[in-house]
Amino acid sequence: MDILSGPARVMLVSDLDHTMVDHHDPDNLSLLRFNALWEAHYRHNSMLVFSTGRSPTLYKKLRKEKPMLSPDITITSVGTEITYGQAMLSDDGWEHVLNKKWDRKIVTEEASALSYLKFQSPTEQRPHKVSFYVEKEHAQEAITTLSDKLKDRGLDVKIIYSGGIDLDILPQGAGKGQALAYLLKKFNSEGKPPASTLVCGDSGNDADLFSVPDVYGVMVSNAQEELLLWHAENAKNNPKVIHATERCASGIIQALGHFKLGPAISPRDISDYSQCKTESFTPGHAVVKFYCLYERWCRADTENQEMLLQEIKSTLSPDGAIVHPWGAEQFFCKALEALGKSYGYKQEKQFRVWIDRVSTAQIHSDTWLVKFHKWELSGEEQRGCIASAVLQSKGGASDSFMWLHLHQTWLDGIENTDGSGWIF
Ligand code: GLC
Ligand code: MG
Repeated sequence: MDILSGPARVMLVSDLDHTMVDHHDPDNLSLLRFNALWEAHYRHNSMLVFSTGRSPTLYKKLRKEKPMLSPDITITSVGTEITYGQAMLSDDGWEHVLNKKWDRKIVTEEASALSYLKFQSPTEQRPHKVSFYVEKEHAQEAITTLSDKLKDRGLDVKIIYSGGIDLDILPQGAGKGQALAYLLKKFNSEGKPPASTLVCGDSGNDADLFSVPDVYGVMVSNAQEELLLWHAENAKNNPKVIHATERCASGIIQALGHFKLGPAISPRDISDYSQCKTESFTPGHAVVKFYCLYERWCRADTENQEMLLQEIKSTLSPDGAIVHPWGAEQFFCKALEALGKSYGYKQEKQFRVWIDRVSTAQIHSDTWLVKFHKWELSGEEQRGCIASAVLQSKGGASDSFMWLHLHQTWLDGIENTDGSGWIF
């Protein structure tokens, strides 16, 4: 994905485990609420940054397990690796900065002498990050001893304790906060600083993020003791940082609303779209809304079946057609017939649909080309396609768009050749 050409309206920088991703929410509902909000109202002019303690290997694993969006920038290994776009092109300039007073061999040597430190898996040992597990009772002692020893050997390191178990040793200039500061400086020098930045976290390695000057911050409701303690000692009177009352991604949505950074009602939470007038409607919003309605139909998640079908119908041009990912073409009216017969057919399947990477281009005064990725989870099966759609504004109410055409292609690695159970 291309980085925005202009300054971002919001640069949202979020930790993943227990912040963006709730490991105690098997339905991933708060994450899906965030996804719909982001793609409908932020994707076109804002920037999504994931900042995780995970190595690129474990980050990619998480992306396979959870319905996560594609970020514009990924910061892995506790702020020691910065990559851009879907291809994850690395910022070599950043890694170069981190070599100052750093020698991972010496770190490994000194840490090996402490019996209460256990090395984490090889994937989590990175060029500028050495990581261990240590029980709470030894954490403080480990930090003090290692700081002294490594200083004696000429290194300048940062030691971070997270989640009451993980101990990371990094170069002093590294960390999630420094990586963000580096990016902000870079965007500044390119003349496109984000209008506002929101950082989101739950544990020790996120404290760094909250120290970056001028950013808004949210500690999600389920934040760890070590982060809350850090906040009480260091940032208690900063009105730009809140402790949300909601967990994980729902806490992030709460913060967007609290700081008035933009729309804070997820399209998933709207039952009657005709009643919502306050949000900024875009073709991206129309796509997200359509698939929210589609998911409700397949799950039989509505009190008014007839109205829901009418709403879906009214957004599809009678002359339009869909080219399915397996190559068959079908008029919208035929697909609607199939849909009509399929009310609730995914009820038992924990069926979910989400949209990622929405991008739009205006091709005429009232017509847009919209590209997006669409994912369906049905039981154990997850399928995704890349889609192009042509949408036309109906005029009048600004959220009314008519689909003229939709073309889908299975995403790489999806092996389905037919489309059983796939309607839109
Ligand atoms: C992630 C990483 C781990 C690190 C922890 C805290 O869990 O996989 O290596 O110690 O985050 O930063
Ligand atoms: Mg976390």
